[in-house]
Amino acid sequence: MSRRTGWALPAALVALCLVPVTSGTLRLVQLAGGPDLMPADDRWAGWPVALVVHIVGSAVFALVGAFQLVPGIRRRHPGWHRRAGRVLAVAGLLVAGSALWLTLFHDPQPGTGPLLFVLRLVVGSAMIGCLAVGVAAARRRDFATHRAWMIRGYALAVAAGTQVFTQGFGEAVVGHGELRGDLLKAAGWVINLAIAEWAIRRPARRRTPSRPRPLPAEVASS
Ligand code: HEM
Repeated sequence: MSRRTGWALPAALVALCLVPVTSGTLRLVQLAGGPDLMPADDRWAGWPVALVVHIVGSAVFALVGAFQLVPGIRRRHPGWHRRAGRVLAVAGLLVAGSALWLTLFHDPQPGTGPLLFVLRLVVGSAMIGCLAVGVAAARRRDFATHRAWMIRGYALAVAAGTQVFTQGFGEAVVGHGELRGDLLKAAGWVINLAIAEWAIRRPARRRTPSRPRPLPAEVASS
């Protein structure tokens, strides 16, 4: 992967997650008694622990996780990759665990239906599974398996960003409705998983040997 495409990927992932991460930050400001920069939602009256954990955990997982995918950082700073990986494994479990909690024990989001309810349970559980398999593989130094399952877990989480587009553009085309909204959110997960599978199976690009640098004039002429 060239240096430029190496950094383009995390930049794109950070941009993808900007809307959900920003709306989460604004929700936290509101819950802390700050200005109503988000439409108020009675379901979040008080200080709902699961929502706070979800918002903080997902911001850490989405933003720090994007940089775990840069091969240059992994190669040059393996210590950073390992330390950040431990933080991300915990953050990812908090995202998935709190997502399951919010789905099961809070009133559903108005306008959403049973399909999204079931999908959130499936995706939350799948995310925990991906992280567990990925971490176990890293511990036994099976890095191909580790990479594949961490990419899948990350892709499921950051579908929150893809859903902004599938829902935004999708509803403009097919209109509003409970089932349509649920299907458009499902499309976000399907798209992300398809991209993840493509990335996992893509043959590794051979690194082109770096061209020899021209010698300084005085060295070359001596
Ligand atoms: C990087 C990933 C994610 C981000 C940035 C994110 C962000 C958010 C934010 C900001 C909220 C609060 C919405 C509000 O204030 O009304 C939220 C709620 C929620 N999220 Fe996530 N999320 C992520 C991943 C996930 C995943 C993977 C799932 C499901 C498996 C999920 C399930 C939920 C649920 C069930 C709620 C409560 C929705 C409601 O009833 O209004 N999230 N998320």
